[in-house]
Amino acid sequence: MFFEEINHAGAGGIWAELVSNRGFEAGGLHTPSNIDPWSIIGDDASIFVATDRTSCFSRNIIALRMEVLCDECPAGGVGIYNPGFWGMNIEDGKTYNLVMYVKSAEAADLTVSLASSDGLQKLASVTVPVAGTSNWTKVEQKLIAKGTNRTSRLQITSNKKGVVWFDQVSLMPSDTFKGHGFRTELISMLLDLKPRFLRFPGGCFVEGEWLRNAFRWRESIGPWEERPGHFGDVWHYWTDDGLGYYEFLQLSEDLGAAPIWVFNNGISHNDEVSTAAIAPFVKDVLDSLEFARGSANSTWGSVRAAMGHPEPFPVKYVAIGNEDCGKKYYLGNYLKFYNAIRESYPDIQMISNCDGSSKPLDHPADLYDFHVYTDSKTLFNMKGTFDKTSRTGPKAFVSEYAVWRTDAGRGSLLGSLAEAAFLTGLEKNSDIVQMASYAPLFVNDNDQTWNPDAIVFNSWQQYGTPSYWMQKFFRESSGAMIHPITISSSYSGSLAASAITWQDSRNSFLKVKDCELRVGHREPHDLCVRASG
Ligand code: AHR
Repeated sequence: MFFEEINHAGAGGIWAELVSNRGFEAGGLHTPSNIDPWSIIGDDASIFVATDRTSCFSRNIIALRMEVLCDECPAGGVGIYNPGFWGMNIEDGKTYNLVMYVKSAEAADLTVSLASSDGLQKLASVTVPVAGTSNWTKVEQKLIAKGTNRTSRLQITSNKKGVVWFDQVSLMPSDTFKGHGFRTELISMLLDLKPRFLRFPGGCFVEGEWLRNAFRWRESIGPWEERPGHFGDVWHYWTDDGLGYYEFLQLSEDLGAAPIWVFNNGISHNDEVSTAAIAPFVKDVLDSLEFARGSANSTWGSVRAAMGHPEPFPVKYVAIGNEDCGKKYYLGNYLKFYNAIRESYPDIQMISNCDGSSKPLDHPADLYDFHVYTDSKTLFNMKGTFDKTSRTGPKAFVSEYAVWRTDAGRGSLLGSLAEAAFLTGLEKNSDIVQMASYAPLFVNDNDQTWNPDAIVFNSWQQYGTPSYWMQKFFRESSGAMIHPITISSSYSGSLAASAITWQDSRNSFLKVKDCELRVGHREPHDLCVRASG
């Protein structure tokens, strides 16, 4: 399984956090900034809201300053609201955990509510007293919904003139998968596929359009309040990095899947770190491996332990970059990472970005990455891709395959059949194709950046496309044997079932798996037959 932070798969997807831009950092470090999707309840005469740099969190210094201007405020007060990711799914009887940091020079009572998108229907409401002090205070409050609304918002209001600062406002449902912060119903769709590995967190998300926007594991661990978040410039959205490196490792464990950590190798879509200057990046990756695998007493292992996981996470695979083969510094950088990791972690299998399916790699690797996105006809015909691949050397990891664009729509039966044909070719060559994963895995219906995908969802519903169900069929019926078979016919012209004789090596029709079809005197055609039992 390949999970990428694309199409709001993580933020606004499997990561259950309901508030978007919880630390007000998404507008950038310059102030004033855009606080989207936060907005204001009230008018210019009653409220003034702006960002400043007064946060108590040094790594994400931006805070929100709210000045209530009205002496006699409108009923219901004035304030701010956050609609989350196209509306929050608030469900009757469920509990939602609010955490926020506030500061106010004078004592005030804030009203925190879960409300419909127009603010008129209140699903839950609590009064939060704020003491008058120059210090930041952490507020923790449970909200229990009395009613269901799929497009709700969180709002914080006040009736009292004065200034209140806010930072790191989080609202999490209490019933996440294993209490680990994941949306249960989306995870159960993943569990149904019984994944053996989880490749994460991208994809191009790992690279960034520019290195300054690449995924950085170090910035994504530790207390969530202290994570700066970052703008994923390839897929064009901000993520608070609540779903960070630690959570990806936890997700792998929860799915029973081997983690495959794809790290940035000093290369983005538009800039590169030269091999001469790559050493700090190599050190950074070694630290990430110590974070995952080191003992709870090691420098980085102790950070993992403090986050609640004293046992190491068994990272056995890493991919050195994503789709970077051929770039100016790829090979030079690759070898620096490869040698350093081999020395410190001899058991880790390393995955090269260079395709070894048609000619052997010119550098050491345990596996090589193979990606294909094409139309259904081409993918169908690619089932023989690995038939002639060398049987020695690194194995293939087909980490991204899918029918897309021309005839794929938002998922189609035709596309999934072509993917099935392609997969029979991978099964047939499973001596050299070690792993395969469809891509992308998820799409939030409100952010269809990339279509098609395996699972479509919104704030409260989800379904599998034909490509999802095709994977499920393959998972339930994993090819283990190939029976040679010849199908011949004396009939020329259109194919008729009665004109075909079938025979496999055991005269067993049900076990037919792979065959050759001859029709009249024409060229042989390949016909793949899947049979259960
Ligand atoms: O799966 C979508 C994108 O396709 C991935 O980010 C990238 O690796 C590939 O180009």
